[in-house]
Amino acid sequence: MNRRALALAVVALFALWASPAAAERYVAGSAGLGDPFFPLAGNGGYDVRHYSLDLGYPQGENLLSGRAAIVARATQNLRSFNLDLRDMYTVSRVSVNGRRASFVHSGQELTVEPRPKLKAGRHFVVTVDYTGEPEPIEDPDESIEGWVPTDDGAFVVGEPQGAPGWFPANDNPRDKATFDFEVTVPAGHTAIANGVLLWHRDHGGKSTWRWLERYPMSSYLATATNGVFQTRFDRLPNGLPRYDAVDPNTRRRTADPPDPALAMERLAAEPEIVSFFSDLYGPYPFDSVGGIVDWAPDVGYALESQTKPNYDRLPSAGTVVHELAHQWFGDSVAITEWPDIWLNEGFATWSEWIYSERHGGPTAQESFDELYAIPEDTEQGQDLWFPAPKALPDASVLFSTPAYDRGAMTLQALRTKVGDDTFFRLMREWYRRNRNGNVTTADFIALAERVSGMRLGGFFRAWLFEPGKPAL
Ligand code: ARG
Ligand code: ZN
Repeated sequence: MNRRALALAVVALFALWASPAAAERYVAGSAGLGDPFFPLAGNGGYDVRHYSLDLGYPQGENLLSGRAAIVARATQNLRSFNLDLRDMYTVSRVSVNGRRASFVHSGQELTVEPRPKLKAGRHFVVTVDYTGEPEPIEDPDESIEGWVPTDDGAFVVGEPQGAPGWFPANDNPRDKATFDFEVTVPAGHTAIANGVLLWHRDHGGKSTWRWLERYPMSSYLATATNGVFQTRFDRLPNGLPRYDAVDPNTRRRTADPPDPALAMERLAAEPEIVSFFSDLYGPYPFDSVGGIVDWAPDVGYALESQTKPNYDRLPSAGTVVHELAHQWFGDSVAITEWPDIWLNEGFATWSEWIYSERHGGPTAQESFDELYAIPEDTEQGQDLWFPAPKALPDASVLFSTPAYDRGAMTLQALRTKVGDDTFFRLMREWYRRNRNGNVTTADFIALAERVSGMRLGGFFRAWLFEPGKPAL
């Protein structure tokens, strides 16, 4: 900018700041945060601090009734703002700071008009009362998520866009908030949400479960899976509360007999896995740990819900390692935009490799070599080498092989390039700096260059951005 332009800009800024009209201008918060894959997910004009969710899901009918109280801070002067909530729910009442507010609900946008309007910088509380028949949300990859009814309750997972399938949210990974939950289900059923169990109470044929997640959490990581469960609520040797829940009906495949004992055994590895990754990456991020093994075979995947991974079926040992590794990478160190998904899936997959290496299984390099041997011009090669992990064209390939395997290979290739000392220092530093935060691929590349003292632009371009098999 030349001096004249600079002077003009200063004058313009001052005029904006000084003009009472500008100071009093109130805007409609945007309906989305412009994520390249989910442009309408999340909303502009405010930051959520805390969600308080009071949910009832009685037996016999598939009817969810909820009251959400959300504490947020306005980041603009707002005459209206949006929350994300699917229109399978009917909203009966919205209030802002205790006063009834008018609203319009259509698609996944609940638009609220607070009176009085909200000033930038102020905190406010919005409450939303809603009821409806939950149904799964279908993703661009044709998988299902959200509040997924099961034969005895619901399997509740939200990646990437399931949260508005059960609560009003600023549904974007960058707006982390703390959560508390009060979930009422039929007596004899268990409702498991994120964080620690504060209390549970049986009353008149119902059972209420109250949970608190004290650590900032992206909305897609919230859960409230419920149904009939065997539970193991205890503490790890280091005092960390642990909550395991297993559906007595769970199994690996539909044709298998139920095997809750084996599921409990798989979860019994949690203390060792948590201590392994704590030594490798840095202290476990949260104040509780656990796992929920349900029987929801139509879902077809597990999810790293914060402190309580959800498994749709009896998990393999490797899947438990994968979902727990996500507590560091994905949950605590979270992405800012969905196209950076390799920062979650590549890291969790590489974590499975290093876990195997340090437990007498194949080394991470052996896992790498086996994949690297796959030629481009085969069906498997097309799936692995195209597109590049950081060049996914759209959300239908969010959870495809490049994000997982080629993402993990990127880390292993980096390890080979910079050496073990530097690589493990980088992984620890990545976690230390970004714990409870949000990151981008550019942040990772910058840190890798800083920690290694090497220029790595070409390396990352080949591994993350360019299609086809990178040369070694
Ligand atoms: N993040 C999950 C994992 O650990 C996968 C979630 C897949 N979600 C989906 N809607 N397909 O691998
Ligand atoms: Zn994963």
